[in-house]
Amino acid sequence: MFSSRLPFDLTPNALAEVRADLTAHGIRIRDLTLANPTRAGLRYPHDAIAAALSAGARSPYDPDPRGLSKTREAIAAYYAGDGRTVHTECMHCTASTSEAYGMLLRMLCDPGDEICVAYPAYPLFSFLTALESVRLRPYHLRRTPLGHWRISFPSLEAALSERTRAVVVVNPSNPAGSFLQSDELQRLDALCAGHGIALIVDEVFFDYPLGEGTRARSAGTGGESLRFTLNGLSKILGLPQLKLAWILTEGPEDPRREALERLDVISDTYLSAATPVMDAAAALFTLREGLQRQIRQRCTRNLHVARQELGDRLLEPEGGWNALIAFGEEERSEHSRPLQRKSSRQDRLAEGNVSAAEDEQRALRLLREQHVLLHPGYLFDFPEGSWGVVSLLSEPSVFDDAVAHIAEFLR
Ligand SMILES: Cc1ncc(COP(=O)(O)O)c(C=O)c1O
Repeated sequence: MFSSRLPFDLTPNALAEVRADLTAHGIRIRDLTLANPTRAGLRYPHDAIAAALSAGARSPYDPDPRGLSKTREAIAAYYAGDGRTVHTECMHCTASTSEAYGMLLRMLCDPGDEICVAYPAYPLFSFLTALESVRLRPYHLRRTPLGHWRISFPSLEAALSERTRAVVVVNPSNPAGSFLQSDELQRLDALCAGHGIALIVDEVFFDYPLGEGTRARSAGTGGESLRFTLNGLSKILGLPQLKLAWILTEGPEDPRREALERLDVISDTYLSAATPVMDAAAALFTLREGLQRQIRQRCTRNLHVARQELGDRLLEPEGGWNALIAFGEEERSEHSRPLQRKSSRQDRLAEGNVSAAEDEQRALRLLREQHVLLHPGYLFDFPEGSWGVVSLLSEPSVFDDAVAHIAEFLR
């Protein structure tokens, strides 16, 4: 009766079961998996948000597959603030970045075609590709001698096939927290142009650097390949519930024009970006500084606490809303040399991989013994090692207590 696009095992995993059990017994969980900024105790300017949306609630319906022109102008102004020129006619508004991925996969891929995604990566990619009947080919980020995660171009070359239609990179990576460097962006651009495939750059966390390191922005840089940059209010303003994101299409004129026309057809079929939020975009962007400052302060503050508690177990992220904890002795002591590469999560699980099981067992013990919930590394398909991923968004009272318990657990 149902399509084979959804082969997923939908039963709750062991962590969810233990969590439910502890909660049923009235035990408070120290939750470090928070990804939702609206539940992080931030001070949102609710009146200003409501006022911005109420103006749009009075607007007539004026459908345009690319979104309202005033919205695209507001998005262009956001990039102009960072010295980038982007063109309003090269944008499509969507309800979310996730939806934007779906539209791109439908435009670029036939069933059975492939996209290459940099791993570790956030788990949604498995679902996004499966729902479009597209195959996911992982390539790897590897750690440099300085402890940064950078693209392994040999692994990317090895992942490319006749059926590859796009290379995806998240900038900065979720969960590794590494920013794309300008030499990497240039290489990706040349590689995609050379193979006649598209480059998709997800920049949802770009506004959240956590240090002084260098970072290269895809949007507004041009290049030789057909390039799509994704972003949206979900992370830029910490307002995922407003549902406004976009695809910026750049690159050589002919494929760019063709891509824009094809995206028009897909977007016109659904017209999913809502008028009130599109109408409010310019007013909402004026709230950016205040909202981002709070998120940045929260992440920086929590990172400082984690650094003090966890020492060299903590891997310094360059940006984003997460930090990594190195659980294995190997990962911890070998900051100074790249680790051995292993195969993808699917392969490793099929092989009865040890570190995925170790990650899970450790996360289960942390939850049972210390009542601390974190994301085990295997969920993000780390190509190597044993990791835990903690959200830096958590409220300080929860974060400090949870990190102190992780430190105790590690001791
Ligand atoms: C890297 C990355 N891209 C995209 C998304 C999805 O964002 P949206 O709410 O716009 O669908 C997420 C969500 O956490 C994410 O981590």
